[in-house]
Amino acid sequence: MDTIIEPFRIKSVEPIQLTSRAERERMIRDAHYNLFNLHADDVIIDLLTDSGTSAMSAAQWAGLMQGDESYAGSPSYFRFEEAVKDLMPFEHVIPTHQGRAAERILMGIVAGPDAKIPSNTHFDTTRANIEATGAEAVDLVIDAGHVPDAEHPFKGNINLDRLEALLDAEGDRVPIVMLTVTNNTGGGQPVSLANIRGAKALCDAHDVPLVLDACRFAENAYFIKQREDGYGDRSVKEIVREMFSHADGMTMSAKKDALVNIGGWLALDDDAWARKARNQLILTEGFPTYGGLAGRDLEAIAVGLQEIVDEDYLDRMASTRYLGEALTELGVPIVKPVGGHAVYIDAKSLLPHIPPLDYPAQSLAVALYVTGGIRGVEIGSVMFGRQPDGSEEPADQELLRLAIPRRVYTQSHVDYVIECFEALVGRKGALCGYEITEEPPQLRHFTAHLRPKAPEAVHHETDGPVEASS
Ligand code: F0G
Repeated sequence: MDTIIEPFRIKSVEPIQLTSRAERERMIRDAHYNLFNLHADDVIIDLLTDSGTSAMSAAQWAGLMQGDESYAGSPSYFRFEEAVKDLMPFEHVIPTHQGRAAERILMGIVAGPDAKIPSNTHFDTTRANIEATGAEAVDLVIDAGHVPDAEHPFKGNINLDRLEALLDAEGDRVPIVMLTVTNNTGGGQPVSLANIRGAKALCDAHDVPLVLDACRFAENAYFIKQREDGYGDRSVKEIVREMFSHADGMTMSAKKDALVNIGGWLALDDDAWARKARNQLILTEGFPTYGGLAGRDLEAIAVGLQEIVDEDYLDRMASTRYLGEALTELGVPIVKPVGGHAVYIDAKSLLPHIPPLDYPAQSLAVALYVTGGIRGVEIGSVMFGRQPDGSEEPADQELLRLAIPRRVYTQSHVDYVIECFEALVGRKGALCGYEITEEPPQLRHFTAHLRPKAPEAVHHETDGPVEASS
């Protein structure tokens, strides 16, 4: 059967507020053309992120009621720790309020002015937390990972030759090697087990720990099951365990593959690092048995970790593939193969008339919002163009990410998104570039103000056929 059957029924609903095109034109102008500044009520289909936007299951909501809010030694912590260790058998599991808190604590311990930390591709918060200590974040994804339409089953792999060369030349400056699974910035692309094993062998040879940024570990494992020789008959849970058996630690945003709205953790094998991490945790997050979370949050994570490795659930990636295939049919260039949690549109090749430093993916993001109230996120030169010294360089790629929140939207919502693209593609030549008028020194994409270089291209269009009426 071709119809996607979401593996859940809906028990509790949230209304979607419909808006008119004229209202959206006004709202995006008031938001300084930065979609992070919109009120979420004014968004019809919110594909800004899959982070913290999951719908929790009835079992997770029931788990909330079991939450024990004791300051120290809460049973909820021990249920959380057991659920984590069932999949990721690290010695120390340290809860944090979200992934970047785990990153900040880890980098505070291992990084510093002379350090270099390689990864396939660091996510923006990881990079920022590394750079905040004065260290250098080094991206070493394989060449195919830089080419949006290059088909490769494991485009998130790290280039092992370049990793080896770095470790040989400057291994004493490398405190840890990281791998982001799946590689979010590079298109939600998976890393193979062969590549994880290869990275671990190099790390062992240089006595450097391997740490996984594991936000979407279950999706990564599902791709391994589907694509890597020898894993087709293994369960996702077994594959997850094997992935982590090669690592010495992990950072985690539970807002992704733990199916909750807030949470994260840092897990480590090393006793001395864990001791330092817990001391840091107490300073800024909380006591080690709750970190930055409530006991009830820990319960919801424990249940979410059991649900995420369910293979019927993981078929959710059928929706992502469905959207990717439909966009390809419309002639919209996307990162191939389609990633797990999101479809990434290659705005550089869709809008060749907009130079990278006029932010083509931001232009597409604004146009998609104005057309149909859909919110995606730019992953290009707005996000990565500003260098630590304040200069501006084009990013590696100019992507618009449409992330699919877990268990939230149905196939008809996805069909609406496709219809909006159909309308947009016909007038893509009219889209204009943008410039930044105000920006903070770090992570500027969250709060920057922008303005269109040709405002008439955004407003007063007459040919936008897709209009949700108010
Ligand atoms: N690492 C990766 C690969 C991520 O995708 C994220 C968050 C983080 C770390 C940080 O986790 O948000 O809990 O602090 N990604 C979100 C996104 C924000 O939209 O992709 P956090």
